[in-house]
Amino acid sequence: MSSRTIKAYAPASISNLGPGFDVLGLAIEKPGDVAIATRQKEAGLTFKLRGTVNNVPDNAQDNVAAYVSSLLIEEVKPLFGIRLTLDKRMPIGSGLGSSAASSVAALVAVNALLGSPLRKEELLPFALEGEKKIAGSGHADNVAPSLLGGAVVVRSYDPLDVVKIPIRNAIYWVVVHPHLVIPTAEARKLVPQTVPISSAIRQWGNVGGLVAGLAAGSAAMVGKCVEDVIVEPVRATLIPGFYEVKRAALDAGATGCSISGSGPAMFAVAKSPSSARAIGAAMKAAFQRAAGISSDVYISRVNMKGAKVLKEQ
Ligand code: HSE
Repeated sequence: MSSRTIKAYAPASISNLGPGFDVLGLAIEKPGDVAIATRQKEAGLTFKLRGTVNNVPDNAQDNVAAYVSSLLIEEVKPLFGIRLTLDKRMPIGSGLGSSAASSVAALVAVNALLGSPLRKEELLPFALEGEKKIAGSGHADNVAPSLLGGAVVVRSYDPLDVVKIPIRNAIYWVVVHPHLVIPTAEARKLVPQTVPISSAIRQWGNVGGLVAGLAAGSAAMVGKCVEDVIVEPVRATLIPGFYEVKRAALDAGATGCSISGSGPAMFAVAKSPSSARAIGAAMKAAFQRAAGISSDVYISRVNMKGAKVLKEQ
């Protein structure tokens, strides 16, 4: 018998990974968003928002999860309607791919309820439309890892070509989310439109080294390559205490540290769980000391599965 309700989870992601603006990203275990899709008789989509996260649109026109789901429904044209509930758990404007996780969780739940007419990879263009709506640009470096799991390179946007990096999953990723909001669209306005060739050479050297380091599972190599000479310098101005927090991470043993996505979350690279815990505590203390801002710390290896169905009934 076909399912009446599907509950799906999509994880947060660290995008850019320092030098790979709009082209590198990886999924982490937590936090994440949950979406529940239920069959209903009336055609079309009805939407409900759950959770305590502030400033999340609660209507189907403006909410990104509802928006991408309606695009999928238009494409598949099911014979029944769908009620979508977004259990919003991730803070917005965090740099953790919050809108991406909402879109991906919703798409995975709705697609499964429809009998999985699309493969996971085929949901990607729908999720990208969500990023366009929220950030004004269809960047894939959050939605692709959240959906597919693992670490990805967006090799090309036109045509879209996402490559999964064959990683050795030995690195511990520390993510510290200070309690402030930076809308991605705002952070993108700061990104320089032209770069000197000397910066470009340094940046693509780091991107190449980072991919090799991920494949080798080498925290030393990945950390060394988490150097962004193009975007980090301008976006750091949006994050109070950025340089103090980065210093604290490196002093506590991180092999590298930069902004997660468009910020304000920051990530650091660690060799072991105990080192990751020490780095997380040092970064959290530095945010408090330097900027008076409290923060949450998440530690995980790469989430290799990505979005998944939690429950079917
Ligand atoms: N690559 C995007 C950016 C990610 O840096 O703007 C947004 O989270």
